[in-house]
Amino acid sequence: MMKTATALQQTATQHFYEDVVKGLTGTPKYLQSKYFYDAAGDALFQQIMHTPEYYLTRCELEILSAQAVAIADALGATPFNLVELGPGDASKSFYLLKELHRRHPEQAYFPIDISENIITQLQHALPARLQGLQVQGLCGEYIDMLKTTAYFSPRRKVVMFMGASIGNFTPEEAVKFCRRLREQMNPGDLLLIGFDLRKQPQMILDAYNDGQGVTRDFNLNLLTRINRELGADFDINQFHHFPTYDPLTGACKSYLVSNTAQEVLLGEHVIRFRKDEPIFMEISQKYSVDETRQLAAAAGFRPVQHFFDNKRWFTDVLWELSQNHNAL
Ligand SMILES: C[S@@+](CC[C@H](N)C(=O)[O-])C[C@H]1O[C@@H](n2cnc3c(N)ncnc32)[C@H](O)[C@@H]1O
Repeated sequence: MMKTATALQQTATQHFYEDVVKGLTGTPKYLQSKYFYDAAGDALFQQIMHTPEYYLTRCELEILSAQAVAIADALGATPFNLVELGPGDASKSFYLLKELHRRHPEQAYFPIDISENIITQLQHALPARLQGLQVQGLCGEYIDMLKTTAYFSPRRKVVMFMGASIGNFTPEEAVKFCRRLREQMNPGDLLLIGFDLRKQPQMILDAYNDGQGVTRDFNLNLLTRINRELGADFDINQFHHFPTYDPLTGACKSYLVSNTAQEVLLGEHVIRFRKDEPIFMEISQKYSVDETRQLAAAAGFRPVQHFFDNKRWFTDVLWELSQNHNAL
């Protein structure tokens, strides 16, 4: 039976509550970064993209604006549906969309995002900018929604996963995630995936610690969201943002650290914090080009073509399914 919008919202809130309770009663404490993206989180992320320290956006924008023709060529002439996982405001992928729409106006675009706000915005904004573009927004989790695209159209698909969002998984989780992606793909389908590459460590750390404090506010906003949607009583002034980068592992991690010993009410739970106790908020894993190749091989993909920015700080890589991969 079809669930009403209210019932779906109640289920989503219940999952949110259960995940937050699990994370904050665990040791060490953590929150899942997918919950950053309510309407305020979306807006803050868009501000982060424009901070001087957040080089990732400028690098990927350079790739997509300067090399849209080459990328479109590499995607091949057979018609396909373009599926984008977590497009955010799609301000970078827009350049590729524009080139593809010029070549194949009949082609449909399926943005998949956990943020309803993002899906609503894209459904309005994109057809206005690209006349006649069919936009079928899908609000939900990456893999769940990817599965549904097969019902809309039998065409082959090109899946985009940009902005180094793959870095929000640990390397082990990334292998599992890419294998799950592969299970939803067929021969002829392609994956265009963005990686932030290893570079000067301070530059990486600064990207997650901008001088205006927008990244700090983005992290703290999740506590505000938990207060609003789950009725908790976090005092956000009693936590501070603490990013780290380990150049050995390539893991950039963000924490919110409790300024003091304190208790927070969350439904029937009392969450106790020690002074200086961290909540792990997000990983942004950095890769070498070799490590991206290893990930592709471990997940059953074969890199076809790399697209780099001029500084080679970032790469969008086109992967096809490797033929002899089995026993996933
Ligand atoms: C870091 S932003 C990147 C946006 C865009 N790709 C870019 O490069 O600017 C991540 C986006 O993915 C969405 N997202 C995060 N986790 C998700 C999940 N598990 N399923 C679906 N969407 C998710 C967020 O709502 C957000 O729009």
